[in-house]
Amino acid sequence: MTIIVTGGAGFIGSNFIFHMLKTYADYRIICVDKLTYAGNMSTLAGIMEDSRFRFCKVDICDRAKIYEIFEDEHPDIVVNFAAESHVDRSIENPEVFLQTNILGTQVLMDACRKYGIKRYHQVSTDEVYGDLPLDRPDLFFTEETPIHTSSPYSSSKAGADLLVLAYHRTFGLPVTISRCSNNYGPYHFPEKLIPLMIANALNDKPLPVYGKGENVRDWLYVEDHCKAIDLIIHNGRVGEVYNVGGHNEMANIDIVKLICKKLDKPESLITYVADRKGHDMRYAIDPTKIHTELGWLPETKFAEGIDKTINWYLENRKWWETIISGEYQNYYEKMYGNR
Ligand code: NAD
Ligand code: DAU
Repeated sequence: MTIIVTGGAGFIGSNFIFHMLKTYADYRIICVDKLTYAGNMSTLAGIMEDSRFRFCKVDICDRAKIYEIFEDEHPDIVVNFAAESHVDRSIENPEVFLQTNILGTQVLMDACRKYGIKRYHQVSTDEVYGDLPLDRPDLFFTEETPIHTSSPYSSSKAGADLLVLAYHRTFGLPVTISRCSNNYGPYHFPEKLIPLMIANALNDKPLPVYGKGENVRDWLYVEDHCKAIDLIIHNGRVGEVYNVGGHNEMANIDIVKLICKKLDKPESLITYVADRKGHDMRYAIDPTKIHTELGWLPETKFAEGIDKTINWYLENRKWWETIISGEYQNYYEKMYGNR
């Protein structure tokens, strides 16, 4: 089995590659990644010499190069993680989100049509459903919840999802889509809430909480997401969407306080800053479908996952310190300098 994994130098894609190489001794993985600011070769250093692995520095929007890879490798499955993934950046500059997230998806699916494929899997997000109110804890996102996006990021992901379903209906492309909640774990880029707060706390820097910190996210340990995708590409029904999430809702402020406590840092580091524009209030996944059809359940409890994550950032300081000492400083100044 040969699998093309796009965006494999990023957070979830790299964790997925590690999971697949560990689980399937005879699978070949081709990682296609443009290496944007979010892609990191040091993440993949440990598998570069593995004969089952090939890395291609290629933009998924580059049709000629993508077709070349398909001609060379005859992939059975494509799993598309490649995306611009940060909501705040999409508010600053939406264009690249539409290019990569929508047009890049189209190029990959055209290649799948041209060269034939057993499965195209689109890694999507629960953000396509918009948000839920805080005062209705009985409401959850199901696969039938209407698409109702808030940010340029989530709109681009929703646009891609609709295109994927259209390629299935119009051209018969064998597709599946997963819509997952917030992931956390090793190799998470330090612009996102959990790794940003860990890095800032370790450096005794202010911890910038948007608005009142009351927004709720449904956190899932990254390995559980990878296992869900593994199940879907092997056993999921073609043309179907699967929500992935583990009923682990937490308010941002509680996460930040917990990180302070675990790192023995004072809560006085917490600084309330201007809210994100169009900030989604609450995400909460109903995972009944993937549980009943594929037997998936999250295996890592948050208490265990957050300890593993914090330990990873403590033991791998070089990985994130290299990131935050570079171009990231300009990003941080722009986003947080006058906030
Ligand atoms: P990330 O930003 O950490 O990684 C994205 C990767 O894609 C990077 O390696 C980057 O170099 C690569 N990339 C970007 N543009 C590219 C292009 N044009 N061509 C080739 N490669 C390109 O993202 P992540 O958090 O790992 O998210 C991966 C996927 O999962 C995304 O599609 C995202 O929408 C989805 N998702 C993320 C979460 C989450 O909590 N992080 C939750 C649900 C779904
Ligand atoms: O739900 C899945 C989505 O989760 C994915 O599709 C996205 O790719 C991923 O980035 C994530 O989106 P969020 O916007 O929920 O994640 P982020 O880590 O950016 O923010 C989480 C919450 O924390 C959100 O309510 C905003 C808040 N926040 C974030 C940052 C970076 C802060 O309060 N302060 C911050 O500095």
